[in-house]
Amino acid sequence: MSQGSSNPLVDPLDRRLTLIPPPCALVLFGATGDLARRMILPAVYDLANRGLLPAGFSLTGVGRSEWTKEHFVRQAHAAVASGARTPFRQRVFEQLTAEMAYVSGDVADLDTCHQLARVLDGSGRGRRVNGGRVFYLATPPATFEAICANLAASGLASGERSGSGERSASGAKVVVEKPFGRDLESARELSRALGLAFAPADVYRIDHFLGGQTARSLLALRFANRLFEPLWNSEHVDHVQITMAEALGVGARAGYYDSVGAARDVMQNHLLQLLALTAMDQPASFGADDLRAAKEAALDATRLPGPAAQCAARGVYASGWLGNVPARGYLEEDGVPADSTTETYAALKLEVTTDRWRGTPFYLRTGKRLARRVTEVAIVFKPAAAETHRGLDTGCLGSNTLVMRIQPDQGTTLRFGAKAPQTPAEVRDVTLDLAHGHAFTEALPEAYEQLILDVMLGADPLFPREREVEAAWRVVDEVESHWATLGTGPEPYPAGTWGPCGAEELARRDGREWMRP
Ligand code: BG6
Repeated sequence: MSQGSSNPLVDPLDRRLTLIPPPCALVLFGATGDLARRMILPAVYDLANRGLLPAGFSLTGVGRSEWTKEHFVRQAHAAVASGARTPFRQRVFEQLTAEMAYVSGDVADLDTCHQLARVLDGSGRGRRVNGGRVFYLATPPATFEAICANLAASGLASGERSGSGERSASGAKVVVEKPFGRDLESARELSRALGLAFAPADVYRIDHFLGGQTARSLLALRFANRLFEPLWNSEHVDHVQITMAEALGVGARAGYYDSVGAARDVMQNHLLQLLALTAMDQPASFGADDLRAAKEAALDATRLPGPAAQCAARGVYASGWLGNVPARGYLEEDGVPADSTTETYAALKLEVTTDRWRGTPFYLRTGKRLARRVTEVAIVFKPAAAETHRGLDTGCLGSNTLVMRIQPDQGTTLRFGAKAPQTPAEVRDVTLDLAHGHAFTEALPEAYEQLILDVMLGADPLFPREREVEAAWRVVDEVESHWATLGTGPEPYPAGTWGPCGAEELARRDGREWMRP
């Protein structure tokens, strides 16, 4: 008889894909910008094409450019043509554009929101939208406070204020993208600005790493299998490595990137979220509150296990080669100031001081212009006890390792020892390699589709809340403060390699080494 046959993972994490949200008006601030064009408009179209948008869906763009609705529709068409993952279908696009509108104006100007209110109400969009309005702030963070204040003043978004000053839920939601501030203090400032118009539960912080199948797959692997969970602790695990490596350089984003650097750009959010999912204890349920509580507890317990000088390394790519293609160094990239000291690589050694993990190091690294693009979480196990393999030749045996590959090809590999043929007792490493693309045939929504759908559904188990964001900043702030005291810039590493020597040293000090994915 099978025990525990109802699998808690199925309900909140997967069945949701087949749900259709209630009617919804999506308002896209920054509709003329890069994020809207590259990610949001194609994702909205793909959702429409997959039949996942509600019948009463409308899309209203807001931007400073003096566009007409027709121009917005043409721009949306171009964005869909270049960015959508599903085939173009004229009928679907026309259905979408029938419910599109564009409001031109400065977002800092209250009149823009009054105009928006007239558009939403006047056209019947407001009346039809029983499911609520979603305000997507695809604009620079500096505009958030003004937008929220204007949304509140125009009555478009605010719920009632309680005695503590917090807004109650109003049926309106707001979506913001990472990075959530640039340190703990500005993250709090951001939350305060969003709180001008929205209750904390109506704030959706988007971390696109959590929108794909990544998080869900990681949770499923850990908690739906008997195989791994009993070993998922410091008794059996030697250490954990979390890698997000990019082969691309900074590209056309120097203006943004040079003011943030690798630690703030992705360590604070993507990598620490992966750490939270890997390190957290079993949540009481897979509902939003319990999942979030488990992630928060893991992040609250995460710290540098020693002085930042010993636990952090940073680097900047110098010129080099990616395969046989020459690559410029970061300082030669367009838009990067000649005296920049921004890091394009960061590595940290962290400890999660929970009963499960105390004493087990978590090594995190991320960098641009590394040897190849790969994001993965590797669980490196301790060696088998000596008495269990007496008489076997294990001289060449490496560590048992479970790797959850997140991209580019989602998959799972397990490395362990097997007896080599034609030897009496030699044990060598073998690898089981499962590409999920071969195991499953279903087409899955892309991260932005999933995230937009989740916001409309109000299904938010994985969107990071204020406390998680703050816990992650505490870790990164300590490292940034240390780096700010150093008179030197980051250590150069040649493009196309695996990063600076300082990062190798960080692992070597503990008698360990980074994996070569
Ligand atoms: C973003 C970072 O969040 O993630 C970028 O701001 C980075 O610097 C990007 O290039 C990588 O995302 P992906 O999905 O292409 O691996």
